[in-house]
Order: sequence, then C-alpha cells, then structure tokens
Amino acid sequence: MPVILVASQKGGTGKTTTTVNVAAELSRLGHDVLIVDCDKSVQSASTWAQDRTQDDSLPRIHAVQKTGNVRETLIDLRGRYDYVIVDAPGHDSQEMRTAMTVADLMVIPVRPSQLDLDTIPGMAELVQVAQDMNPKLKAVALLTQVPTYSSATEEDEAKDFMLDFPQIPRIDGALKIRKAYRDSIPAGRGVIETANTSAKAEVQVLVKEIQAWL
Ligand SMILES: Nc1ncnc2c1ncn2[C@@H]1O[C@H](COP(=O)(O)OP(=O)(O)O)[C@@H](O)[C@H]1O
Ligand SMILES: [Mg+2]
Repeated sequence: MPVILVASQKGGTGKTTTTVNVAAELSRLGHDVLIVDCDKSVQSASTWAQDRTQDDSLPRIHAVQKTGNVRETLIDLRGRYDYVIVDAPGHDSQEMRTAMTVADLMVIPVRPSQLDLDTIPGMAELVQVAQDMNPKLKAVALLTQVPTYSSATEEDEAKDFMLDFPQIPRIDGALKIRKAYRDSIPAGRGVIETANTSAKAEVQVLVKEIQAWL
C-alpha cells in the first residue's frame, strides 16, 4: 500500500504538522494508517500518536520510530497498512534518502520564504537521482504556513518561483498559518478533529490531492 514520505531539507517547514494531519484525515476516512517517525526531535509525530491514546473518542493511529536506513522497514510495513506516512528529520538525512527509494509520493512542505524556496532545486536533483532506483516516485511541493492576511504577496511570489521546477509540481492546496495547527498537536488531534472549519477544509483538500497523486 502507498508510502507517503513527508520530507524537506530544512527544519520547521511543517513536516510533522503535515504528517499528523494527513494521518488523522485518512484515518477518519476509514483507512488503517501507520506513521513512521524518523525524527528524534521533541515535537515528534510519535509523541502526537501517544498523546492521542488519552482520548478514547479518537481513532487510534499507530506510530513507530525508525532511524538510519529505513528502506527494509518500509518495504515490510507497507504490506500491513492502507497508508504508511514517513515523517522525515529536518535536514537532508539517511532516513530521507533511503525512504525515497521506496516511497510512492514525496510531499515537500515549503514555507513561502526564499530560504525554503532555495531548497527546491537541490530537492529536484535528489528526486531525479532517486527515480533511477525507484521510478514510481513522484514528488510534490506543499506550501505551508502561508500568511492569511490578504495583502501578502509571499504566496504569489512563491508560486511563481515554483513554476520553474516542473519536476516537483505544487499541490494546489496550501496550509495557512493558523493557531489550530499549533494547538492541536499537543492535544494529539488533527485539525479535522477540532472546531476550526478553515483548517479542516485545507487538510481535506490536501488529502484528496494526495490520493489523486497516488
Ligand atoms: N500551518 C501552520 N500554522 C501555524 N503553525 C504551524 C503551521 N505549520 C506548522 N506550524 C508550527 O511551526 C512549527 C514547525 O512545524 P513542524 O510541523 O514541527 O515542522 P517540521 O516537522 O518540518 O520541523 C511548529 O511549532 C508548528 O506547530
Ligand atoms: Mg518534525
């Protein structure tokens, strides 16, 4: 079953936020989801899954931690779940590179800032190399932490910049800066399990697009 890798070459781009929210929505849709947490940092996806167990009303989402070469683990686990979502560390890592040899779809969260955008050319090269070994790998970029105020030009500028890298098409949907994304994580929830209808709609659009890419 599909392996979705959420990775970027920078920390703080929104990998864990994307991972747990996509997992919660896929779970709501009735799928059996496993998170493979490859990041040892504190705000981790496996802590989120653990926190979630405190609330019996939330569907259980399994998470395992794995670092180093994750290729064989992913090959083994993909047969047992409807979706495996890999939350990569916040840098170019062995975990990211080995997961790229197995993944069906790589989702690259990018904030609309030049520092994040500057990682796209390097990512495009890495994807091309990985596709030699894993021809089914597709990679898409997801704009995250997009300012909500209407005068913001960052979003349009980022979209323009991203057009130059057709190897990594941009997912139409984007995740805006919303408190709900921050507050839901310590509660072990996805935003779809909160009252924030705007955030919920964003995640549902994202998951539909991800499913269409698979
Ligand atoms: N769309 C968003 N709106 C508001 N805060 C966000 C959003 N996405 C991420 N954050 C916050 O930004 C920080 C980094 O996000 P995180 O998902 O942990 O990134 P990464 O896993 O790539 O390091 C966290 O504190 C998170 O709560
Ligand atoms: Mg993270």
